Amino acid sequence: MPAIIVVGAQWGDEGKGRVVDGLAREVHLVARYNGGDNAGHTVVAEGRTLRLHLVPSGVLHPHVTCLIGGGVVVNPAQLVAELDELAAMGVDVGPRRVKLAAAAHIILPTHRALDGARETVRGKRALGTTRRGIGPTYADKAARTGLRAGLMQDPEEFGERVAEAVAAHNRLLQEQYGLTPLPVDEVAAEYCAYARRLEPHLVDGSALVAEMLMAGRTILCEGAQGTLLDLDHGTYPYVTSSSAIAGGALVGLGFGPREVARVIGVAKAYTTRVGEGPFLTELLDEVGGRIREAGGEYGTTTGRPRRCGWLDLTILRYAAEINGLTELALTKLDVLAGIHPLRVAVAYERDGERTTRFPAQFGAEELVRWRPVYVDLPGWTQALEGVRRREDLPPEAQAYVAYVEETVGVPVSLIGVGPDREQTIWSL
Ligand code: IMP
Repeated sequence: MPAIIVVGAQWGDEGKGRVVDGLAREVHLVARYNGGDNAGHTVVAEGRTLRLHLVPSGVLHPHVTCLIGGGVVVNPAQLVAELDELAAMGVDVGPRRVKLAAAAHIILPTHRALDGARETVRGKRALGTTRRGIGPTYADKAARTGLRAGLMQDPEEFGERVAEAVAAHNRLLQEQYGLTPLPVDEVAAEYCAYARRLEPHLVDGSALVAEMLMAGRTILCEGAQGTLLDLDHGTYPYVTSSSAIAGGALVGLGFGPREVARVIGVAKAYTTRVGEGPFLTELLDEVGGRIREAGGEYGTTTGRPRRCGWLDLTILRYAAEINGLTELALTKLDVLAGIHPLRVAVAYERDGERTTRFPAQFGAEELVRWRPVYVDLPGWTQALEGVRRREDLPPEAQAYVAYVEETVGVPVSLIGVGPDREQTIWSL
């Protein structure tokens, strides 16, 4: 019957992977709906830690089928590397378990080169992208010049299409950016080999989703990045190039809104952001540094230190609206132990004007003119790592969670108190 959507409520890196992992027991299909290898999540299995960027988080649960949906952009080199690493760990990543939607778009090395070139040219206005070719690949998709994964059904033909696209990108790289072109034949041969390898994994993604739903199976739609990185509803232009919001699941996977039973917004108990762009509750002092160290706030994909700040409830309220959240998962509550008071933003103010709605829609330039209005909440000193029931949290931590629920108007159904699978409080 139903679809469950797991969506980032902030700027990404909220811990969506662990929420998907926690729910995987109850679902049959985990389907990634947007983004590419700009995202990253860490999985721990057989004593090994693995960083995955494309294969959905459900892969470690043997009964789950994994789908890389049509809304995703795929770097085939990365996908092949992940499949190989997982196979070496004894995980079944055969075509019956890991499927790639024919409508997904293919990232070429020239897309990555263009991403880097555009960032360099932007200078002071650089977006701080992951330089994985995400923007240029989605741009080609929208311009209807992209290459879809389905072309890999015929590896030779695919190789020719890759050669044409690389040659076209090379002209741009040389003429517009004065850069060295990439070797067309080499890239085409490499991609032809990826096609041979990945062809058995290709499926009609929306048909698979429809079949599952018709058969009464539960599908879990895994979003990458977060609400404020969404191309339409985030802090434009400091956003990614895909639909990271819950609506992106319907677009990227191809099913209707009636199927959606739950929309789980994942948020950290504080806020982080990687890359450039406005972040009004950012902490540039020692408290920010303390959160970064305690929370291990360094990017999974690029290793960049993440910018850290107070929890912003205007953002969570905005995420609740934009995504139609039925519940919130609040991760990394343990990281806040020992900080007192804890500040949370509840509104924004400028020139005597006040708003409780996150003002994203007029763009980044407009956003920086606002100042957050804070409420101070008492902190706690006890470590939370061993707590498994909400009522066993220190009273101040319980009050913090209750304040979030009350202000956002959405119940908190999961609380993360440590990095391990078991360090989770299911609170509904
Ligand atoms: P792009 O997605 O590489 O084009 O980067 C655009 C913006 O999104 C940059 O600020 C990146 O740091 C940010 N971004 C992309 N993917 C992620 C993610 O998975 N987590 C956090 N930030 C991300």
